[in-house]
Amino acid sequence: MAEASSSATYVLVTGGAGFIGSHTVLELLKQGYKVVVVDNLCNSSDIPLRRVEELGGLKDNSIPFHKVDLGDLEGLRGVFRQYKFSSVIHFAALKAVGESVRKPLNYYRNNITGTLNLLDVMIEFDVKNIVFSSSATVYKADPEGKPLREDSPLGCTNPYGRTKLYMESIIRDVTDAEHGWNAIMLRYFNPTGAHVSGRMGEDPKQIPNNLMPYVSQVAVGKLKEVHVFGTDYNTRDGTGVRDYIHVMDLAEAHVAALKRLPDNHGYEVFNLGSGTGQSVLEMIDAMSVACGHKIPYVNDPRRPGDVATVICNPDKAAGELGFKVSRDLKSMCEDLWRWQENNPNGFTQE
Ligand code: NAD
Ligand code: WQD
Repeated sequence: MAEASSSATYVLVTGGAGFIGSHTVLELLKQGYKVVVVDNLCNSSDIPLRRVEELGGLKDNSIPFHKVDLGDLEGLRGVFRQYKFSSVIHFAALKAVGESVRKPLNYYRNNITGTLNLLDVMIEFDVKNIVFSSSATVYKADPEGKPLREDSPLGCTNPYGRTKLYMESIIRDVTDAEHGWNAIMLRYFNPTGAHVSGRMGEDPKQIPNNLMPYVSQVAVGKLKEVHVFGTDYNTRDGTGVRDYIHVMDLAEAHVAALKRLPDNHGYEVFNLGSGTGQSVLEMIDAMSVACGHKIPYVNDPRRPGDVATVICNPDKAAGELGFKVSRDLKSMCEDLWRWQENNPNGFTQE
């Protein structure tokens, strides 16, 4: 592991070995930031960091990485003793909605306790800037499918979503209580895609819960057919409509948020999405074009808890963060396919 020089300041990325975290680490390095990653690897491995090093033209094992669980307060303190951090990007969390319904305490313990420990240590070491991975799941879905704004009504239907809502509130309280703190909540809509190189992407450990990793695993022949959950929604083709965003657009948005933190705006919330929606069938079609063959699907009943349409109003991020998505549906699907085709078994083939 690389040793930190005492004068340099670092960005701490929790969950930096995961899907969105690893793509963000690559973008941070590209933009000249020094990064330290903390991850317990419960839903990842260190291979994505090796790929980041490869794509960033760095030596193997040159990204400082600490296999620490955020539940381990002393372990976290040890990391903060070793580096001077300017800010933290906090991705580390459990994220499977269905699992959170079955094992709510695991979700509250991991996500909330981890965040409490992180905030404690940040206060202790006088680190006052945080970017937090939040989610569109914190919104009460609009019954008419109107684009959601940052001030749209909140309300969650599952424990995972509630951990996000509570973590936002906890961070807000700390920002109010502590002098000089700045916090940016980024509410992602539906992240997908992969790095354009085909060397990095999402690598679900189990059968994917989310649509696009499922579709790409059908496309590559690992799964038989896509199950379309509901064809009787009040949408243009009856299937659910979502706002998909390319993971590299998300990565760039995190860097934009990081750059804004020193402007001292206190606590802020931004949506990250495109502002447009695609149906399940449109996503399957777009992936079929990208992979060059028809992706089989069957129609199934609605998935409990799902709603017809979830789309973001991206105006605040455009106006205040200067962030707009720059990658379209075609490149999302082409990049996802390149990753899936070149790495049918994810990162495990090395
Ligand atoms: P991911 O599972 O790929 O990455 C999360 C990383 O955090 C993993 O590497 C995991 O090992 C690590 N981790 C989890 N608990 C930890 C702990 N206690 N200590 C240390 N490390 C821990 O997930 P992702 O898709 O990259 O999501 C990143 C963040 O974005 C999460 O907070 C997630 O809730 C949020 N988010 C994701 C989506 C999505 O659809 N992917 C949408 C909205 C928000
Ligand atoms: C998208 C559409 C499904 C799978 C979830 C979380 C949310 C956030 C993003 C973390 C819906 C349909 C899906 C499948 C299908 N994650 N679908 N067959 O539900 O919008 O959001 O991920 O914060 O919190 O809830 O995303 O990808 O699961 O579903 O037909 O096998 O695809 O019904 O219409 P969702 P998704």
